[in-house]
Amino acid sequence: MPERILVAVAWPYANGSIHIGHAAGCYIPADIFARFHRLVGNEVLMVSGSDSHGTPVTLEAEKRGVTPEDVFTEYHNEFLETWKVLGISFDLFTSTHTDNHQEVTQDIFLKLYNQGYLYTKVMQQPYSEVDGRFLADRYVEGTCPHCDFDSARGDQCDNCGRTLDPQDLIDIRSRISGDTPIFKETEHFFLKLSAFEEQLLNWIRPKQHWRPNVKNFSIGYLERGLHDRAITRDIEWGIPVPISGYENKRIYVWFEAVIGYLSASIEWANNIGEPERWKDFWESDQSRAHYFMGKDNIPFHTIIWPAMLLGYGGLNLPHDVPANEYLNLEGMKLSTSRSWAIWLKDYLDRYQPDPLRYVIAANMPESSDSDFSWGEYVRRNNDELVATFGNLVHRVLTMSHRNFDGQIPHPGPLDDLSQALLEEANQRLAGTASDIRACRFRAALNDNAMALAQSANRYLDRKAPWKEVKTDKAAAGTTLWTAISVINCLKIALYPFMPFTCEKLHHMLGLEGTIHDQGWQWSPEHTTPGTPFDPPTPLFTKLDESVADEEIERIRQ
Ligand code: MF3
Ligand code: ZN
Repeated sequence: MPERILVAVAWPYANGSIHIGHAAGCYIPADIFARFHRLVGNEVLMVSGSDSHGTPVTLEAEKRGVTPEDVFTEYHNEFLETWKVLGISFDLFTSTHTDNHQEVTQDIFLKLYNQGYLYTKVMQQPYSEVDGRFLADRYVEGTCPHCDFDSARGDQCDNCGRTLDPQDLIDIRSRISGDTPIFKETEHFFLKLSAFEEQLLNWIRPKQHWRPNVKNFSIGYLERGLHDRAITRDIEWGIPVPISGYENKRIYVWFEAVIGYLSASIEWANNIGEPERWKDFWESDQSRAHYFMGKDNIPFHTIIWPAMLLGYGGLNLPHDVPANEYLNLEGMKLSTSRSWAIWLKDYLDRYQPDPLRYVIAANMPESSDSDFSWGEYVRRNNDELVATFGNLVHRVLTMSHRNFDGQIPHPGPLDDLSQALLEEANQRLAGTASDIRACRFRAALNDNAMALAQSANRYLDRKAPWKEVKTDKAAAGTTLWTAISVINCLKIALYPFMPFTCEKLHHMLGLEGTIHDQGWQWSPEHTTPGTPFDPPTPLFTKLDESVADEEIERIRQ
């Protein structure tokens, strides 16, 4: 019986381009996970979309003198193009700016309201007398009372990840005019988070499979006590409150963005003409939801969204929230405002997607921050992709093609060395699978898939088929068939990480169909002697050492 897997990926704000930090934080791990599960034959639904509302988008629009809709549209289209070129295989990448999302959001809002989990209260919000308006969320910044970070925002501190209220900020200031806002009364809807504290603690505490950082952060958050939070704002861009008398208010961007996972699933089901299908992923206890994001998103996915789901009732809570830590760039924190980043669009204009997917997966910030450097990118490209994997494929296929009439050679009886390598392939493939299932992507890639490529190279060096071919052609045929068989295995194991390359390799091996048709299965019998194939072309391109310096120069500019 196939498993059902919802792959829920954080919704990027449609206010700027996506960089390698986002790719490492959630898009690449989510895609590896989804591709693996599809290959295994599980039912996968991978959804996300542009986070289109709220102050992140309006601030950018004001800065440029355009409408929020203009900003959203520009980046939404850019994201769609990026996913295509980088191979991020969403079943649906939609946006929060759809009628469907508005309907689903308002339905949840009303149900929570009717069940007493939302209530109104008059509160104080920062108000700029200079600008003549309330300053929500990103319109104010100040010093975080918890960690002293000096640019914490009105709703969250980027440094320690805690959620904040504007009142918490020390030295609060307007980000438009720089003046100190006053606090003025306004009425808002509150989400009764306090009602869920116990339930959430009891839900999270037994989670053995959660990453320690995610679990500890969430338990710490709950143990400090859950406070009810305002979930409406005095702004114009966003989803209207579905209750009369509140026409000038909008639903808080985070409250509605997390609902996107559900609304996108419903939209997907409608798109495929099976309007009830989303229920398989949300109502069935046979389904598991995995939420991918960077660590700054943790509280919204382990506390606020689960609280909303508990209040709404009948929908599955997250099964796992494998949030990643941060990816630094050349030893320094990525920064959009200081333009210290590698933009995916820019990278993909000049380089292949798979080497980036590979380098990011090999060094994924799973349990602590990690660093991306161009020096390491070039080194891994040249030493690991070109020399270890690419060269293995190239020399084996070239030698086979040249000496065995352009066909996969026929093996004779296998010696111990060959048998041991095939046995290792079997184990490494299983190891890759169990690591990916557990979201240990680095280990899956480095300690299993690539370790097998290294073993295959050692095997070739010991057997030296380029010598065997002169002295004992049958023995050379056995060695090369064994090596091709292992390459066939690597093609599967590496596919979730490097789909474009592995698909190409599949065809280079003379095989029909796609890797998806073959599925996550391998045995030596899959490599049929006598299969014709074309002369191989290189899978990867060697990069000159100077590339690293040039690229660092580019980011410095
Ligand atoms: N837009 C948010 C960010 O970039 C992430 C939203 S994830 C969702 O940090 F859960 F709200 F969808
Ligand atoms: Zn802080």
